[in-house]
Amino acid sequence: MENKKFYITTPIYYPSDKLHIGHTYCTVATDTLARYHRLRGEDVMFLTGTDEHGQKIEDKAREAGVTPKEFVDRIVEGPGGVLDLWKLMNISNDRFIRTTDDYHVASVQRIFRRMYDSGDIYKGTYKGKYCKPCESFWTESQLVDGKCPDCGREVQDAEEEAYFFRLSKYAGRIRDLLENTDFLEPRSRVNEMVKNFIDPGLEDLCVSRTSFSWGVPVDFDPGHVVYVWVDALTNYITALGYENDRYGDYGKGWWPGVNIVGKEIVRFHSIIWPAILMSLGEPLPKKCFGHGWLLLDGGKMSKSKGNVVDPYILAEKFGVDALRFFLMRTFPFGSDGNFSNELLIQTINTDLANDLGNLVSRTTAMTGKYFGGSLPAGCADWDGPESCDTELREAAMALRSAYEKDMESFAPHTALADVFKVIQRANKYIDENTPWKLSKDMEANGRRLARVLYTLLETTRICGVLLTPFMPGSMEKLFAQIGATAGCRTWDSAAQWGALPETAAVNKGENLFPRVEMDKALEELEAAAEAAKQAAFRPDIEIEPQLAEKVDFDTFCKSDFRVVKVKSCDAVKKSAKLLRFTLDDGTGVDRQILSGIHQWYEPEDLVGKTLVAIVNLPPRKMMGLESNGMLISAVHTEKGEEALHLLMVDDAIPAGAKLC
Ligand code: MSP
Repeated sequence: MENKKFYITTPIYYPSDKLHIGHTYCTVATDTLARYHRLRGEDVMFLTGTDEHGQKIEDKAREAGVTPKEFVDRIVEGPGGVLDLWKLMNISNDRFIRTTDDYHVASVQRIFRRMYDSGDIYKGTYKGKYCKPCESFWTESQLVDGKCPDCGREVQDAEEEAYFFRLSKYAGRIRDLLENTDFLEPRSRVNEMVKNFIDPGLEDLCVSRTSFSWGVPVDFDPGHVVYVWVDALTNYITALGYENDRYGDYGKGWWPGVNIVGKEIVRFHSIIWPAILMSLGEPLPKKCFGHGWLLLDGGKMSKSKGNVVDPYILAEKFGVDALRFFLMRTFPFGSDGNFSNELLIQTINTDLANDLGNLVSRTTAMTGKYFGGSLPAGCADWDGPESCDTELREAAMALRSAYEKDMESFAPHTALADVFKVIQRANKYIDENTPWKLSKDMEANGRRLARVLYTLLETTRICGVLLTPFMPGSMEKLFAQIGATAGCRTWDSAAQWGALPETAAVNKGENLFPRVEMDKALEELEAAAEAAKQAAFRPDIEIEPQLAEKVDFDTFCKSDFRVVKVKSCDAVKKSAKLLRFTLDDGTGVDRQILSGIHQWYEPEDLVGKTLVAIVNLPPRKMMGLESNGMLISAVHTEKGEEALHLLMVDDAIPAGAKLC
């Protein structure tokens, strides 16, 4: 029989800045769910990626002086970028989509055309308000105090010819989906959506822009690019192969899948996305789960507020699994939660070092000390059961089904709470049985001691299996310490008492979760954050220091700078550097200037440009050719390499105009 297929996605991230702990939260949660489904033996497809188009990226790239593609490449693939972060966090995505991938771009064009051909997309005039940072259009009635309802920032008036999606046509079906199915969770988000968007009347959605070009071009109407949310949302199916031949997984049982998203983008995922699918006649997502936000001091994390928490620093300091665990254990998945370093350290110390860490280290150390690392065969049933044996064993045996219920209802925090109740019960069992006292008289109590230790090892194993999706790396180590081989790490074995062989080879290894000294760690975190801030400010670009020596004004006025137009330009033979310019300098007589800039410019790209030259330098011969003046450039060093930009000025300035 074919395995059950399970498809789960995260939102695809805007690579406009480095990702922070809030982004990490969403991806770790989705990874945990994906790993849980794999543990159950399902075939899992886990997709994440980056949402790379839109005006915000275009603007940021311009500010950085690079093309939008170069800009996003750096943040996605560069050191410390999105891919690096997911690798560090042990994210097990099966696929990574970038909306600039060719196959996705082509698919979006086909999707747009299909919706246009079916009449669901039509051409009209857009008038309204636009929030640039959120890339969202709003109607007057949706604004809050005249500002963007999502981010509270100023919105701009916008009016332009645009394509519209007949979202209004789907209002009834969307209301039904939200109100009468369990598509959207938690249920509190349903009320929000209905009250804020459906009840006021769903308007048609503007789905193309002409005011910028960094997007998927509408192939039948040049000048228009597809609205970034239509481009982004469709990633969930293009990444499977919808309308492209890169992948053949669409229609193979993966879609419909589960979309995990942050609360502020539930609107797009629970209204616009299902409406697009309705228009295309494709199945609707199985589920949209809108998780809460990690807040800092009660407010949103944002780079502009300068309070972004760096997951690299936290993972390096405390370990990836401790960080993953903290995120899932502390904050109920559907609600907001306040992040703090103190809370992180407390959680590590209480749950990981004290409860789990102690259970594992005491159990493995005692098995080593009293039985040389391997319990006697048959000990599981010796001398008992006493009521505490039965209680712990029953708690451990009941755990998987409670955990399963929690995980199926998107409550990983509750699943962890359940596991930790059993861990705490196991620690109490150690205190009840005082193995160190039993060990004093091995002849009388050795059998009882072996049984107590087996009960502890078996409980630890079951908890370990269920903690694997949360802390995959550490659970490998835990299994190695208690001698649990592959067969007793499975989902089935988590409901079987006695899967661990009594004689399994137990080794007390390294301490899995060392205690963290709060004050010292807080200080170190602060220092690391400060150092990272300084490093971020270290310029990639170096400029020459200004000259201290002054020149008097008359001397300055002796330099004759003029606007010149490039009539022709060619490379000087046998020179790697020199370009020969024939320039119109306004005198009516062509001026020839040689310039060593071939490394940065191709001659044909410069013809017709309006430049600046100093024209009263004495003539100079280079490679046998005379140069009469010098073209003015801006120079700096970028990442250790010399960079040069010819000074280009407005083409409206006539040749010969004097600079003063
Ligand atoms: N590009 C869109 C998603 C398109 S999906 C088709 C986007 N990107 S984002 O990078 O801004 O955000 C990605 C996810 O990170 C969102 O789900 C968002 O809610 C989540 N988070 C960003 N900051 C967060 C917190 N502080 N806390 C929790 N999640 C947060 O939106």
